[in-house]
Amino acid sequence: MNLLCSRPRLRWCPLLLGVGSLLLLLLLQHLTDSVQQQNPGVPVPEVPTRPERKVPSWQTEDIPAGRFPGFPPVLHLCSDPLLGKKQPIIKRHRKLLLKSAPYVGSAELRTQRSRRRQLNDVCSKYQKVRWKRQVRVQQVSRLYVEDRFRLLYCEVPKAGCSNWKRVLMVLAGRARSTQDIPHNAVHYSNQLRRLDSYDRAGIAERLRTYTKVLFVREPFERLVSAFRDKFESPNSYYHPVFGRAIISRYRANATSSALKTGSGVTFREFVQYLLDAQRPVGMDIHWERVSQLCSPCLIPYDFIGKIETLQEDADFLLHGIGAPENLTFPDFKDRNPWVKRTSSRITQDYFSQLNHTERQKVFEFYYRDYLMFSYPKPFSDLH
Ligand SMILES: *[C@@H]1O[C@H](CO)[C@@H](O)[C@H](O)[C@H]1NC(C)=O
Ligand SMILES: *[C@@H]1O[C@H](CO)[C@@H](O)[C@H](O)[C@H]1NC(C)=O
Ligand SMILES: *[C@@H]1O[C@H](CO)[C@@H](O)[C@H](O)[C@H]1NC(C)=O
Repeated sequence: MNLLCSRPRLRWCPLLLGVGSLLLLLLLQHLTDSVQQQNPGVPVPEVPTRPERKVPSWQTEDIPAGRFPGFPPVLHLCSDPLLGKKQPIIKRHRKLLLKSAPYVGSAELRTQRSRRRQLNDVCSKYQKVRWKRQVRVQQVSRLYVEDRFRLLYCEVPKAGCSNWKRVLMVLAGRARSTQDIPHNAVHYSNQLRRLDSYDRAGIAERLRTYTKVLFVREPFERLVSAFRDKFESPNSYYHPVFGRAIISRYRANATSSALKTGSGVTFREFVQYLLDAQRPVGMDIHWERVSQLCSPCLIPYDFIGKIETLQEDADFLLHGIGAPENLTFPDFKDRNPWVKRTSSRITQDYFSQLNHTERQKVFEFYYRDYLMFSYPKPFSDLH
């Protein structure tokens, strides 16, 4: 949160401005991105200032994040010690239970258990006081809701989020197939509700009973993916807003055209911005740490997927929640489809443009994500 406000002495600032600016940033980005989609090559029009969003008083209160439902959800429902006596197994549950049977004791379940254990270990290490599992509304603002299959999905950009949103839309019955949903409909059609749009009771109930899902990606790879997406292709929001500020701050003798367009930011300049305590522009969800975006120490995620094992993880999750058999995880590359996907090879190439100190600092920046999701050190000389 603090990252949104560069001056640490303004303690109240993250609260007041954090959510506001994140929302505004998102709004701006969505607005301008959609403008860009409609009129490629046309400069960004002035974005009208929006009236301040009134925050109801309950939104600043703590909401219990609920207990740990486990995964697959149905197995848990049927034998939950916290619920006292056994829940009656209704028809759908029985069907799901049968479907889940092959997964009992499976490698997939063990993987999930070990990912959750790792996350809990890191959280309890970093949080000296045992946390109360109370969340604030701004901490659930990145969670998308699917009520039919009772899912909460935390959006992590550059980690398959467009395709996950497509899956949620099909689960919700908004589309017949993921093939039917173009990129704009995924991000701008407001078909998916966010958890913070519900009232206090609605949030608490969903946090308690829904399957909470998070998908992550190797942090350096995610960073390079974000950089390539936002700075290496024309972009009517990231170039003028971030590019201009980055070039004017970090490039000696920048040409007037570079200063004017904000195009041509290098990876090294981008990293200088990322590591700067006095960033000339704020953070952005595309390179913000998952530990900040999804509050994984507060929200007891039931399912932690990884892009590196996407197909297995997605199959397992869809199976576990009882999704229709014909729904499989799609493979769309929404942004710049003609550009190669960021691989570990490409990531290494970008990081080789940095010196050792810079690499070490970026590693420290994402250190918690590395620990929480047990990714190995990306370079052997880091510590
Ligand atoms: C998938 O199956 C459901 C019925 O279970 C059907 O309504 C839907 O149209 C099917 N989708 C595709 C893409 O075949
Ligand atoms: C910037 O331009 C000045 C004068 O043209 C030159 O002396 C200086 O070395 C340049 N600096 C860089 C970093 O290129
Ligand atoms: C690495 O680059 C930074 C600029 O980002 C510079 O300040 C530092 O001196 C460099 N370190 C080494 C070891 O070259």
